[in-house]
Amino acid sequence: MIVFLNGQFVSESDAKISVFDHGFLYGDGVYETLRTYYGCIWQAEVHVKRLFQSARFIGLKLPWTQKKIVAWLRESIDRNCEVFSGESLHLQSKGCFLEVSQTHCDEQITQIHCDEQVAQVNCGESHNTVKNRLKNGVFSNFPEFRIRLTVSRGVNHFDFLETKHPTICIAPELILHEPSAVYEKGVSAITFPIQRFLPEAKSLNYLPSVLARQAMVREGAYEAFFVNPLGFVSEGTISNIFLVIDGTLVTPKDGMLPGITRDTVLKVSPFPVFERKILRSEFANADECFLTSTVKGIVPIVEVDGKKIGHGTVGKMTQSVISAFEEYIKKSHD
Ligand code: PDD
Repeated sequence: MIVFLNGQFVSESDAKISVFDHGFLYGDGVYETLRTYYGCIWQAEVHVKRLFQSARFIGLKLPWTQKKIVAWLRESIDRNCEVFSGESLHLQSKGCFLEVSQTHCDEQITQIHCDEQVAQVNCGESHNTVKNRLKNGVFSNFPEFRIRLTVSRGVNHFDFLETKHPTICIAPELILHEPSAVYEKGVSAITFPIQRFLPEAKSLNYLPSVLARQAMVREGAYEAFFVNPLGFVSEGTISNIFLVIDGTLVTPKDGMLPGITRDTVLKVSPFPVFERKILRSEFANADECFLTSTVKGIVPIVEVDGKKIGHGTVGKMTQSVISAFEEYIKKSHD
């Protein structure tokens, strides 16, 4: 992969930062995770705007314009698409794997296997051609990128305050799509009693998520939802949460990251949505539940802390919201 680091595009192995970088020393920085759909970065401007909001929360002044960062993000994907069509890669995760070989460049050489579905990409095909060709094809197994945009306060040895220049890094990687059962059958979650520091900001301090995700893996769950000392649910370790109660959607109003997928659901939901505080005990009365995140989209949750949500299957309202969301994404690429 090609990585953008402090104004230059370099190979992954040459992308190096100082051991005195405040991101490394103190978790002193902010980040965004973006993704592509059909090869285009989804909501790039909105993500970069949120990066600036997060930076304001931690008193970090960014010396670049939002426009410049969006341009670097787009260039990162364009450059990696060129590499992607000629490079040899082999990745394997969660039952999905992607193989690219460059032995027969005039043939169909790229195969994406996911739940026994296969998508083909031609070697050397331009970014736009692939995008247009596959646009009306299989929605879920098109090779896409997730993009980690990280900014730290930069280098100044062990001084807590002033640094000269922030560090900026854009690191894309291929998304390994979830097995379709995740969306069709739903997944389980746990609750975890912890809160993120400055939850409205996407800071580099994600220790609460790390701890909650360790517990989640121990329990064999897919996500963990943070619960504060008053018993209110705020968000997941890397997602926002929605419950379906009495024919309406309910989602926490504050104390969480203002998720971009969450915002999109507020916009496209065919049902009324209420933003309000949610008690952990309300899982017991909820008919349905789902999480939202840029990389995963909308994932139905059918069990929390070992107890079924509703009938323990993916509910009709969740399915309608997923359809409305997918429709919105397809339309925004027309
Ligand atoms: N996580 N809450 C938290 C704590 C998050 O880290 C995220 C995103 C979300 C969902 O926000 P959005 O819809 O804008 O992705 C909510 C990303 C995917 C991550 O950390 O990689």
